[in-house]
Amino acid sequence: MLKLLTRHRAITGLGHQRRELITSSRSINDEEEIKSVKSFHEIPGPKGLPYIGNLHKYIVGSLNKYKYQYVLKQYFDTYGPIFKQTLAGRTTVHICHPSMFQIVYKDEGKVPTILPLLETSKKFRTEEKMSPGLGNTNGEEWYRLRTAVQKHMMKPGEVSAYLPQTNEVANYFVENLARLQNVNNLLQESSKWSLETSGYCCFGKRLGYLHQGTESEQEALRLIKMNDVQFSLSTDLKFSLPLYKYYKTATYKKLFEAEETFTGIADSYLDEVLQSIDTQITKGNHETIAQAQVKYKFILALMQSKNISRKDIGTIVLSLFGDGLRTTVPALVSTLYCLASSPRVQQSLFEEVNSVIGKKQEVTVEDIANLTYLKACVKEALRLFPIGLEVVRVNNKDIVLSGFHIPAGTVIEMNNFNLFSNSNYFKDPGSFIPERWLRGSDVTVVDPYILMPFGRGPRMCAGRRFAEQDLYVLTSKLIQKFKLDWQGGGYSQEYKILVYPDCDTPFKFEPR
Ligand code: HEM
Repeated sequence: MLKLLTRHRAITGLGHQRRELITSSRSINDEEEIKSVKSFHEIPGPKGLPYIGNLHKYIVGSLNKYKYQYVLKQYFDTYGPIFKQTLAGRTTVHICHPSMFQIVYKDEGKVPTILPLLETSKKFRTEEKMSPGLGNTNGEEWYRLRTAVQKHMMKPGEVSAYLPQTNEVANYFVENLARLQNVNNLLQESSKWSLETSGYCCFGKRLGYLHQGTESEQEALRLIKMNDVQFSLSTDLKFSLPLYKYYKTATYKKLFEAEETFTGIADSYLDEVLQSIDTQITKGNHETIAQAQVKYKFILALMQSKNISRKDIGTIVLSLFGDGLRTTVPALVSTLYCLASSPRVQQSLFEEVNSVIGKKQEVTVEDIANLTYLKACVKEALRLFPIGLEVVRVNNKDIVLSGFHIPAGTVIEMNNFNLFSNSNYFKDPGSFIPERWLRGSDVTVVDPYILMPFGRGPRMCAGRRFAEQDLYVLTSKLIQKFKLDWQGGGYSQEYKILVYPDCDTPFKFEPR
């Protein structure tokens, strides 16, 4: 008997018409059926050189690594919804079909295995004797960290405790825009907003990143620059021979410096908080203790978690402080771009915001619960402009995908990016139609595996609640106060481990 996790489904290939067999969720014990499973080697894909695989094409530039999203799309069009590619000794199976996603998710169990989200950060952190962080660990170590943060980062009730801070920073940001009206680089401005918001939640104080012409603003710009260096150079290293794993190449040294600067700034704020907690809580009176408990809620909660060290706290705080730069920020900018480009949707959203929030300055938990159309707008913008190409799993058991045997331990990339623009799943896929995500419309999407911008299951994005709260609060305030007008050309993205805008992001914010 061959114990395989499989699922019956006839599917249609992507770029060309073809039918494939994905067998059903059960063990296969029929000899004939076992024989019909094709081997791993038969999975189609670009032919490459021994060990190097396809890497040389990215190195010499015949394939553009910064447009990797379109390289993969081209391969899906050529080979169908499953293909494999080897880069420097690592063979990855790329899949692009909700039924296959379902099979992979069924296999993952309570402790799913992934590749590190950022291999270079993992290396830097290991060398610096830091905790590698949730997205860079597996097994028991991951489970220990995830259990510790689950309550404080994933429970909506816990995250909404930071609404006062989120509202305060968003109000300040909106006031600045009301003065400026024209913003040439919204990507940069909203990066400062993201750091200011998360910094306030982590470190209990305003960092001053939105104060123009100050030292604090310079610090924010340095963090934004260092973050860009991390992702750019990580992409260069992903598409090079992995020599940096064995000795410090020039690129790795630059990356190391960027990591060091970013971590150093976050860590100095954390040290300040830990000292302050020590004086105010250990040696203070009732009043100072109560104040510190509110100001330092996040860090105190982590300190009270079982099995969590100072090192772990450092990396968790670093993630909450900085991860929004490459995720929440591009999600915000693309949502605003989509709204500015669609007067119909912008007007409908304004009507919703007006009826739910009115002229209030503070967005509440109840308001967020009622902003249904806004949530659909954000989902739809994440479909048109996803921030990641894929969700990665290493399968625990042998499985069959599309009739091919995938041995346990294979790196599988579930490609959302390509799925989102596929007309088999989305009517008029190039158009911004938030109604797809609402019940009962004639374009409603029904397959639960089709849009998973935050992933799903035990490894679902740990920052999801914070990211969504930040996005809903700021977007609703911007729509409440302004008519949005996009002043740029086309909106485009490049691949830098995640996908990130590579176009100018000028907007006009016309007061209502
Ligand atoms: C629009 C914003 C964001 C999107 C679309 C997003 C998306 C994702 C996705 C797809 C994953 C992989 C999930 C999986 O493997 O199943 C992930 C993991 C993760 N994200 Fe996010 N993310 C966002 C914002 C954030 C923010 C702001 C933070 C930090 C507060 C964050 C922290 C993490 C962490 C720590 C993981 C690893 C979780 C684990 O392996 O247990 N993310 N995110």
